[in-house]
Amino acid sequence: MSARKWTGALVCAAALAWGWLAATPAGFTQSAVASDETDFQGMPPGKGREETFYACVVCHSMRLVTQQGLSRDRWDEAIDWMVEEQDMPELEPADRALIVDYLAEFYGPDRKADTQSTQ
Ligand code: HEC
Repeated sequence: MSARKWTGALVCAAALAWGWLAATPAGFTQSAVASDETDFQGMPPGKGREETFYACVVCHSMRLVTQQGLSRDRWDEAIDWMVEEQDMPELEPADRALIVDYLAEFYGPDRKADTQSTQ
């Protein structure tokens, strides 16, 4: 088993634990999201940031998303995977386009967000 695989497994285990906490009724409603509303967990400003944040943060920290650097196709696949395997509700096509654009722009293989984030 490769080192990459192990890292992935660890990250996913952490995500599961986090997702479980965040998915409890109290976390799922206002509180968890409201406190992050102003900083978007360090995501750089851009078109689609809000859509991305609110679509993804209901289940897990944005860190799980923003630590990745994926091509547009891989982001598209990641969203399919969230829908098919993680019970994410299907996104409106317009929102999905915004989200994939945002992620590909700032969290592509060159990770433009690293030079723009305040954190
Ligand atoms: C309905 C809940 C849910 C939603 C909404 C959701 N995810 Fe996830 N996501 C998960 C779970 C659960 C995991 C951990 C899966 C695992 O480890 O098997 C995860 C893991 C991930 C990972 C890490 C994969 C890895 O290999 O470590 C990425 C990237 C990701 N999600 C992206 C997104 C993006 C982008 C969005 C918003 C467009 C999103 N997720 C919305 C449930 C969700």
